[in-house]
Amino acid sequence: MTTRPGTSAIALDDVTAEYFPDQPILRGLSLHAPAGKISLIIGPNGSGKSTALRLLAGFLHPREGDVWLINGSSRTPIGAGQAHRRSALGIAFVPQGHSVFPTMSVYDNLLVGAWPIRREKKRARQAIQTVLARYPVLGDKRSAPAGSLSGGQQRILELARALVSDPDVVLVDEPSAGVAPAAAATMYRELEALRDDGRTVVLVDQDLRPALAIADVVHVLQSGRCVSSGTSDELGSDLDTLVKSWLSVGGDATSTPSDEGAAS
Ligand SMILES: Nc1ncnc2c1ncn2[C@@H]1O[C@H](COP(=O)(O)OP(=O)(O)OP(=O)(O)O)[C@@H](O)[C@H]1O
Ligand SMILES: [Mg+2]
Repeated sequence: MTTRPGTSAIALDDVTAEYFPDQPILRGLSLHAPAGKISLIIGPNGSGKSTALRLLAGFLHPREGDVWLINGSSRTPIGAGQAHRRSALGIAFVPQGHSVFPTMSVYDNLLVGAWPIRREKKRARQAIQTVLARYPVLGDKRSAPAGSLSGGQQRILELARALVSDPDVVLVDEPSAGVAPAAAATMYRELEALRDDGRTVVLVDQDLRPALAIADVVHVLQSGRCVSSGTSDELGSDLDTLVKSWLSVGGDATSTPSDEGAAS
């Protein structure tokens, strides 16, 4: 495994965040995603996973605490900035749910990813060619409306659009939700490939079995707090107990880590 020169870690430091005054969603959350690794954030519905990712992406500003991009001994605060700043910091974000522009072509969707470098036309074109070469399925359909792609292909397009800026840190929320199993498997392989490029990946996922299989570090959120952190091996039966406790409230028990041995 390599680390890209300059690849950064990213962290939340004792963060409290809310959408409405005095209704905190994250409550003193600290979380460190090491450089060049896949960090997985899991937790029950509504525990604040996507909110944590929005903070790391600079979409949301904490009421208390700090959000840091960490490179060696240097720490850069991540504010709730504009997209060009996030891209300049080397951070890309693939949000939860569908975010392609369905009536625009695949190529034009990728052009949106090149917005921060739009004035450098040659560089922008090359950056798009690089991601099209990485994902031939998109290259074949570059002129097709993005809405005509399958759900899995649209997810790949969202990831590809995030990669146009060649980020060091890739934040991905529920990459396999609502896509066919084969497409989901492709997505997890791609996330591993990004890590193997030396990038830092922060993954929020409810599809626990495949996500745990690729994760280097796992953070378990409950009610806006991190209740456990470590490798899935380190968390061991603790993770199993935690997951079962929230699944028993209502979820798909077929995906608990204890089933991992039965995974293909
Ligand atoms: N834009 C928003 N405005 C107001 N409240 C929000 C907003 N987004 C999320 N929330 C609330 O914040 C809490 C945490 O939501 P969040 O989306 O971070 O959870 P999650 O762990 O990602 O859940 P899920 O597993 O369902 O995706 C929820 O109570 C939710 O209703
Ligand atoms: Mg979410």
